Amino acid sequence: MNVLMGFEDPPSSPQSEYFWETVETMVQFNINGKKYIVPNSLPADTSLNTFIRENAHLKGTKFMCLEGGCGACIVSVQFKHPSTGQIVNQSVNSCLVPVFTCHGWSVTTVEGLGNKAHGYHKIQQRLAAASGTQCGYCSPGMVMNMNSLLESNPTLTMKDVENSFGGNICRCTGYRPILDAFKSFASDAPPELTKKLADIEDMMCPKSGKICTGSSCGQKCGPATEEIDGGWTVCNNLDDPLPNSNNLLVTLQDGLIWRKPTSVKEVFELLDQIGDKSYRMVAGNTGPGVYRLDRDYEVLIDLNGIAELHSTSVTDNGVVLGANISLTEAMALFYKLAKDKPNQYSYMKVLGDHIDLIANVPVRNAGTFGGNLSMKHQHEEFPSDIFLFLEMAGATVVIADSSGMQNEMGLLEYLATDMNKKLMVKINLPAYDDASHVCRSFKIMPRAQNAHAYVNAGFLVKVDKKSGYKVLEKPRIIFGGIQPKFVHASNSEDFLVGKKLTDENTLKGVLNVLEKELDPDYILPDASPEYRRGLALSLLYKFVLSVDPSKVSDKNKSGGPLMQRPVSSGKQDFDTDRNIWPLNKPIPKIEALIQCSGEAEYCNDIPSFPGQLWAQIAVTDRLATVSKIDFSEAKKVPGFWGYYTAKDIPGVNSFIQSPNPERHEKVIKYY
Ligand SMILES: Cc1cc2nc3c(=O)[nH]c(=O)nc-3n(C[C@H](O)[C@H](O)[C@H](O)COP(=O)(O)OP(=O)(O)OC[C@H]3O[C@@H](n4cnc5c(N)ncnc54)[C@H](O)[C@@H]3O)c2cc1C
Ligand code: FES
Ligand code: FES
Repeated sequence: MNVLMGFEDPPSSPQSEYFWETVETMVQFNINGKKYIVPNSLPADTSLNTFIRENAHLKGTKFMCLEGGCGACIVSVQFKHPSTGQIVNQSVNSCLVPVFTCHGWSVTTVEGLGNKAHGYHKIQQRLAAASGTQCGYCSPGMVMNMNSLLESNPTLTMKDVENSFGGNICRCTGYRPILDAFKSFASDAPPELTKKLADIEDMMCPKSGKICTGSSCGQKCGPATEEIDGGWTVCNNLDDPLPNSNNLLVTLQDGLIWRKPTSVKEVFELLDQIGDKSYRMVAGNTGPGVYRLDRDYEVLIDLNGIAELHSTSVTDNGVVLGANISLTEAMALFYKLAKDKPNQYSYMKVLGDHIDLIANVPVRNAGTFGGNLSMKHQHEEFPSDIFLFLEMAGATVVIADSSGMQNEMGLLEYLATDMNKKLMVKINLPAYDDASHVCRSFKIMPRAQNAHAYVNAGFLVKVDKKSGYKVLEKPRIIFGGIQPKFVHASNSEDFLVGKKLTDENTLKGVLNVLEKELDPDYILPDASPEYRRGLALSLLYKFVLSVDPSKVSDKNKSGGPLMQRPVSSGKQDFDTDRNIWPLNKPIPKIEALIQCSGEAEYCNDIPSFPGQLWAQIAVTDRLATVSKIDFSEAKKVPGFWGYYTAKDIPGVNSFIQSPNPERHEKVIKYY
């Protein structure tokens, strides 16, 4: 048995008051091909990131924001899709994945991809060769995001690459060299880019990462990635295979229950058994990246093993999505339907494009439709993009309860429904005749990617295209980010019925009506109400301009389509005198490869020593006169050891060069 937890015998599970036959009682999964059993002594909210770093002692996977926004923690995961049975290979933010959801998974961390002992992976080598690291803290996450991209789509384009790093934040290197490195793997990469990086990469010793002189180490250089290029696959490199069953019941030592059922029926059996105990469903668990959990729950119900919640079906009349289909899966399905069945589903291209503006690739891989709609249900003010476009499309949801009833309802009715002990099981999307429907959606946000909307909008209008786009029935005009309760621009919808969309008077009239019905709230730090009202009006104007560009004057034509950003490019020249090489010859940074492989050690990677103390610098953010510093609250914190103030620092109390070196202990002049 290849078990790494510092013990060989699996930890025993306390007796549970709940019982199902043939359930597993321990979470087992692989990291880099080694099997781990998750001890039930760990808290239920232990993340995969914490487990990788603290239990598996692999410090290459970093963390920073802990909310799915920075990408420092990205790892590649493989698991069997609960509905199709196919192996899914994708990147996830390990900071958001609860380790108890990893049952049966194979996880690859940056160490598993390549390292000094076995040779570095091409992705690691090219990032280093392109000078794509500075401090290197973001690099393992960048490498792993690229790894999953390549594994899931070996023919990806430069545009795909550039579009897939919205959730990987680099604070110091700059994105040009990072993107150059990764674009060199794209099917349409210019040969000069691929050659330049491959040349530098070839100069590096695949084992040591140092520039190879051809003879110095005496090692026979083979292709660096030969033994690891195949990647980790579920179970195939294990003496002791992972369990096949999805059905799981873990009783944690603090009495909490982690249950992974395989059917909707089992969810309700559990909900019946737990009485008044607090519970939470867990799907992708990305929700806590937006709204932190405010309490501990006694029972956790993992929905990731239920095939019904992850399946889809398509007819000519509509599409049925399992409630917990991921955003990534839905995006792929929508694009496919828009292409294969344009007569009924061309509008789904709009939905696919809109999903591309939600969060970032790893969050979309894990996050689900049902989770997103539930967040909207729990937090009315959440400017959910999924809610916006599903309501635009007239989608319905199916809600199941323990009596076996399944109720189909519109999204507004769903928001008003008590969801206690209920489960969303399906989402239904209708077909729309392409010949008579116009559909657009928009999202205005502070950045091009990975940000919530200031204002988002969706328009679906049935028209007679031959008679000036006459509106045939009440359209669906939805705005988010205005007021928690504002969904439909109902007066504008009423106004448009029977009017010609391409008529200038219609435009003036509807803008007038919309302006009157918009009353944005003012909640800091949201953008001002005036700005958001202006955005909403502009989006309606933009929609009308886009409907029939042939009727729009040249002056206004560019207002209709969304601006398309071309693939970026950049160039860097070195001033170098080739006559005196190797002096002043540019070479990859010495520590770049160990940064790209996670072997570089940072302060918080070093294990703590017995008796180690931690300190926090308390600073002020106000210009003020300090009359008194009160440490009484700090002293109450368990383990409090002591404090230092300016008085404890001898000499000039300054650590920076200042134009005004004298410092006053009482008057704060800089902050
Ligand atoms: C960095 C980041 C950026 C984001 N940006 C955007 C954005 O721009 N636009 C946007 O719209 N969203 C955004 N999101 C939200 C994201 O889409 C949601 O977090 C995700 O879809 C939630 O799905 P989940 O499966 O992870 O839900 P979970 O976190 O697992 O669950 C969330 C809630 O849903 C409940 N739930 C889940 N499934 C069901 C079900 N079948 N029946 C009943 N209850 C259920 C759970 O009990 C829980 O209360 C962002 C999230 C992150 C982390
Ligand atoms: S730590 Fe930032 S995304 Fe996980
Ligand atoms: S954060 Fe990217 S190299 Fe420093």
